[in-house]
Amino acid sequence: TNTTGKQVPRIYVTRQIPPDGMKILHQSRLCHIEQWDSEDPVPRSELLKKVAGIQGLYCLLTEKIDAEVLDAAGPSLKVVSTMSVGYDHISLQELKKRGIRLGYTPDVLTEAVAELTVALLLAASRRLLEAAEKAKTGGWGTWKPLWMCGHGLTDSTVGILGLGRIGVAVATRLKPFGVKRFLYTDMSARPEVATSIPADSVTVDELARLSDFIVVCCALTPETQGICNKSLFSQMKDTAIFVNTSRGGVVNQDDLYQALVNGQIAAAGLDVTEPEPLPTDHPLFKLKNCVVLPHIASATVSTRNAMAALAANNLLAGLRGEAMEKEVPL
Ligand code: DGY
Repeated sequence: TNTTGKQVPRIYVTRQIPPDGMKILHQSRLCHIEQWDSEDPVPRSELLKKVAGIQGLYCLLTEKIDAEVLDAAGPSLKVVSTMSVGYDHISLQELKKRGIRLGYTPDVLTEAVAELTVALLLAASRRLLEAAEKAKTGGWGTWKPLWMCGHGLTDSTVGILGLGRIGVAVATRLKPFGVKRFLYTDMSARPEVATSIPADSVTVDELARLSDFIVVCCALTPETQGICNKSLFSQMKDTAIFVNTSRGGVVNQDDLYQALVNGQIAAAGLDVTEPEPLPTDHPLFKLKNCVVLPHIASATVSTRNAMAALAANNLLAGLRGEAMEKEVPL
């Protein structure tokens, strides 16, 4: 209760978050903050306990927000704000049923994710990790004409799976490398953004057959779950590179593994896997032609602060009953 006798809304923050986000929450003086004060995720049982009676939930992509959590929170819960652009960890249907609003963090991470996507593409296609490892461990004999050859972007065809904000930003960054043609596949045709690149709309099969590089930038939805499967990989060129910075669930990992082992495709770069973390004994880690990163695409200091701040502002707007800066329409 505050000095005017009004009940102060309670919020729960599921992790230590970047300072800009915490500052905004504290300075608002709008709510009583409880937090899982750790770098590691809150245990599920603790989350279920802590959400009881809260008005706002500030969460990360590691928390599954489903009927169980929402029931544990009870009817007081008005707003969920996730510090991520992806919201596949949240049941929209269950939120909608209960009239709970949802904030998320698009735009602020687009550049950082696109930049890392380019880095990962180059690391996989030019065999950077493999080569660096050789140099360090005595595998660098002498200069050899055919040693450590990869595939370049010049005169290539790049296929973008999911031409949203990030897909466009990736294409924009790859263009100066001399890419000859951009293709894209999306749930809906996106003529205006496509023209600006320009990129041609094709089917998934055409994307597989024609691309030298396939870059996955779509959201994980029931429609995109497992969309990168045996059928896609078997149609790809054996010189093609596959890159995923969206969500692991978009890819059938067993099919990808087979494609990499059998030389159906040349290499892959993954920033996202299923599950996360990917167990260290996972077969993908044994492959020279697969670069696996631990979900770091948005990991720049300023981007993570911007995400934390946006998620905080979304949460506060939701508590005030005002329009959020970035809200998922339910
Ligand atoms: C997101 O925001 O959804 C990314 O996966 C992490 O930045």
